[in-house]
Amino acid sequence: MSVPEAWRGAHGKPVALPAEIDITVPSVARGYDYALGGKNNFEVDRIAADGLTKVFPGTVPLALDNRAFLRRGVRYLVAEAGIRQIVDIGSGLPSAGNVHEIAHDIDPQVRVVYVDIDPIVLAHGRALLADNNTTTVIQADAADPGSILDHPETRQFIHPDEPFAVLMAGILHHLPDSKDPAGVARYVKERMSPGSYLLVSNFLDDDDPRAREMDAKMESVFGTGRFRTWVEHTAYFEGLEMVEPGLVYANEWRPDELTDSENEWTTFLSGGIGRKA
Ligand SMILES: C[S@@+](CC[C@H](N)C(=O)[O-])C[C@H]1O[C@@H](n2cnc3c(N)ncnc32)[C@H](O)[C@@H]1O
Repeated sequence: MSVPEAWRGAHGKPVALPAEIDITVPSVARGYDYALGGKNNFEVDRIAADGLTKVFPGTVPLALDNRAFLRRGVRYLVAEAGIRQIVDIGSGLPSAGNVHEIAHDIDPQVRVVYVDIDPIVLAHGRALLADNNTTTVIQADAADPGSILDHPETRQFIHPDEPFAVLMAGILHHLPDSKDPAGVARYVKERMSPGSYLLVSNFLDDDDPRAREMDAKMESVFGTGRFRTWVEHTAYFEGLEMVEPGLVYANEWRPDELTDSENEWTTFLSGGIGRKA
């Protein structure tokens, strides 16, 4: 199997795929893209995601719910909270309803820095954003948030003394305990200026044995993906004022007409937004 030299992503622009992309090993970014109905994935990713769905039929609904929570959260941050700068950590591949598109529907001047560890995200992001001067993408590890906030491109796009939003949607559950996700959130909060916001969504272990099964399966397929408890999730927001309705099942965070209220997987995903006073 070889990687096509130039490939059209969901955005229709040709993408030169970097040599370091390994299409023999499933990637979280590409598997998530497949679950969302995207085209930026390979057979190995589709097999992995289909394998997860067999064990845990909630795989696709959870991906869609997570994306929908992100969409509602970004709309709140820009339209209601007045945020004009966003750092999206673990942003994933360009997909339907990208953060910058949601933000720009409200105000085209909103600046967005996308961050992901997977080189394929950088390749697609560069193609998508080539002629966009408000939005950029960098490759970095969420476990090292200092390298993100001090990155030259972040410094160019984000004024640290003004309020900004940090999005960590579906990313802290990809950090193992050894990478100290609560420490990552703490560091980010320390660096946020007053009036800034933190958005977090994560796989939730709401005392359901299926969460433990899925945790083990995610670990074996992707090497990452932890279902953590409410207590662990609450720690991410410690020290912030919670935006109503607080930290809740993601589908219960300001649902709109598109929210899937019939969804039996709702209890496997938490979401919330906190504000630094
Ligand atoms: C489930 S996707 C979430 C995408 C998007 N934030 C959303 O909510 O729709 C998780 C993303 O996190 C990225 N990721 C995983 N581990 C990471 C790390 N240590 N640092 C940065 N990104 C990471 C993956 O490559 C993937 O694109």
